[in-house]
Amino acid sequence: MVNKIKTCVFISGKGSNLLSLIKSSREYNFPIKINLIISNNIKAKGLNLAKKYNIPYRFISSKNQKNFERNCLYEIKKRKIRFLCLAGFMKILSNKFISDFGYKIINIHPSLLPKYKGLNTHSRVLKHKERYSGCTVHFVDAKLDSGRIILQKKVSIDKRETKNSLKQKILLQEHKLYPQSIISIFK
Ligand code: GAR
Repeated sequence: MVNKIKTCVFISGKGSNLLSLIKSSREYNFPIKINLIISNNIKAKGLNLAKKYNIPYRFISSKNQKNFERNCLYEIKKRKIRFLCLAGFMKILSNKFISDFGYKIINIHPSLLPKYKGLNTHSRVLKHKERYSGCTVHFVDAKLDSGRIILQKKVSIDKRETKNSLKQKILLQEHKLYPQSIISIFK
């Protein structure tokens, strides 16, 4: 595809979803190209993927939210980025940032939203003895893990499920759901 949408991915950690997006974006017909990766965590393992795949990246501290957002916007505008994917990015973006950016922002969350917004999702799901959990890709607004849902995938919870096994089971689905959601937005 010649005119891929210039995209930035925000991360805070391991970056396994980032890897799935990098791999998909290298396919000819996938609608986006990743032109920039921003991490608010200097130790994020995902930054190694940026190096490995030769994608421009920046660490920008989010200790001060205003400065973080201003610096991000500077980097994003400089590269004419038109789409933003949050992939394990553990901060809430302000309304001002969302409107100043002015293009679509999407996020992936490891639960069947609107249930279990926020942190420690898997332990809360297990504590409530849910029979199902899953993952959700949604548009981002200035509230935590809300915004219109794009796609969801449900998984069943086994009797002997642990926090870690559930996390891994859901991550496997996330890695498919995130690229599928991007295809569905731009088709
Ligand atoms: C993923 O499970 C993602 O859904 C979750 O963090 C993990 C990041 O893993 N995101 C959130 O909880 C956002 N509220 P990764 O760094 O390996 O992609």
